[in-house]
Amino acid sequence: MTLQRVCSIETSTIDQLSEPIQNLLKEASMATQRAYAPYSNFYVGAAVLLSNGEVVTGNNQENAAFPSGLCAERVAILAAKATYPTEQLIGLAIAVRTERELKQAFTPSCGACLQVMSDVEQRQEPDLPVYIQGPNNQVYIAKNVGQFLPFGFEL
Ligand code: THU
Repeated sequence: MTLQRVCSIETSTIDQLSEPIQNLLKEASMATQRAYAPYSNFYVGAAVLLSNGEVVTGNNQENAAFPSGLCAERVAILAAKATYPTEQLIGLAIAVRTERELKQAFTPSCGACLQVMSDVEQRQEPDLPVYIQGPNNQVYIAKNVGQFLPFGFEL
């Protein structure tokens, strides 16, 4: 079953995207270099573009006491909201690197990160598009978080 049939995730080559989104994907890719992932060797980078033009990055930070670490997406999103609580999230880019290279596969975010994205999206007017770096300069694009998590938890 193709991705397009499961949900409406689209693909594009990176050069077809706008300059701010290309830059966001580069920031996510560079953030993988600063990840701390000695246990999984799975280095994730995330970059958030805010409505004031700022870019906030994050990466996975693992911990010897395993559950104490955090995923890249949540590091980036929560840091962005902690620093700029009133700004809206305009886009989120994600890249994954194994030990040597960018991962050559579609790598969707975990459920806990999707819940955080969904919660933030529900608190703001615009949808939050998600851009996931894929193989050969391909980018997977979800127009909003609902594409991945249609029923996010709400209190
Ligand atoms: N990880 C993320 O950073 N984002 C996700 O959405 C899923 C997993 C990290 C957590 C851990 O450091 C490593 O990838 C392997 O699970």
